[in-house]
Amino acid sequence: MTSLKYTDEIAQETAALYEKLQPQFSHERWEDLAPYIVEINRLKKEKNAVILAHNYMTSDVFYGVGDIVGDSLGLARMAAQSDADMIIQAGVHFMAETSKILCPEKKVIMPDMEAGCSLAEGITAEELRAFKAKHPGAPVVTYVNTTADVKAESDVCCTSSNAYKIIEGLANEGHKRIIMAPDQYLAKNVAIEAKKNGLDVEIIIWEGSCIVHERFTPQDVKDLRAEHGNVVVLAHPECPPEVMAEADYTGSTAQMDDFIKTNQPKKAILMTECSMSDNIAVANPDVEMVGTCQMCPFMKRITLPKILKALQSEGPEVIVDPAIAERARHPIERMLKMS
Ligand code: 13P
Ligand code: SF4
Repeated sequence: MTSLKYTDEIAQETAALYEKLQPQFSHERWEDLAPYIVEINRLKKEKNAVILAHNYMTSDVFYGVGDIVGDSLGLARMAAQSDADMIIQAGVHFMAETSKILCPEKKVIMPDMEAGCSLAEGITAEELRAFKAKHPGAPVVTYVNTTADVKAESDVCCTSSNAYKIIEGLANEGHKRIIMAPDQYLAKNVAIEAKKNGLDVEIIIWEGSCIVHERFTPQDVKDLRAEHGNVVVLAHPECPPEVMAEADYTGSTAQMDDFIKTNQPKKAILMTECSMSDNIAVANPDVEMVGTCQMCPFMKRITLPKILKALQSEGPEVIVDPAIAERARHPIERMLKMS
């Protein structure tokens, strides 16, 4: 790893950003990070590259070098619209594959190929084919947290922000039984909402889960409320339904972010990945972010030094077999149209 020097120019160039992020980083730590931020931002201009940063990126990545930030749906949309030559995906591998599928002409670079996802690893194309064969006629809705091979076997994709809308759309087309994979909790949460709204549809569930969100329990919410009093609790739909039932608001990472921005609660707790709370705290200084969080070990593999290396070497590049990409594009585009 190249070691970069913290100079007076770099200190000056990053002063405003440091002031914003200061509660999170000591000055000593900032002296390590700031040179990377400056060099990454210089190089990405030179190479006409864009950095897509998911809400779970640490604040140095999210605020320091992210050009487009947001949830899985937002990043997929923006990847499709970007006119950059190169996309650096600051997120996990399935997000980079989605970008490549939507932008086959662009170089899509993943700073760490090991940044996977327990959901994407939770089902293979072969397993999905066998599952479909057991439930003939049921359309398949797969979460974007899947590999390109799995998407290629699907009818429509969904994200946590539009899952209910997609199911509702299919139900309105007359489908009575719909397969949802691989997140059992997202599927269960959608099924509960469908029942509440009188939607006549049966959701056939694949039993995958997110290793981050499955760890939250309803008792966690009760304990936090007891400890922190008047606190607003927000939960991500990858959490178990019992946790969702205890929350005041549920939504995708971008929807939770919007909720806090709009409502400015005095105190809030996010039942989701840790960096999300840090990033929200930076943008909403009047909101006290308290309580618990869970770390995603995959998201945390993406660091400034790895992003710089990826930009310098223009690799490792994400490659998707064009025949698979062609088939995987349809469910993603259908989702973008339906949401
Ligand atoms: P969203 O950003 O779509 O809410 O997804 C969360 C997630 O777990 C991505 O890995
Ligand atoms: Fe996958 Fe969960 Fe990590 Fe998101 S938070 S990347 S769903 S393991």
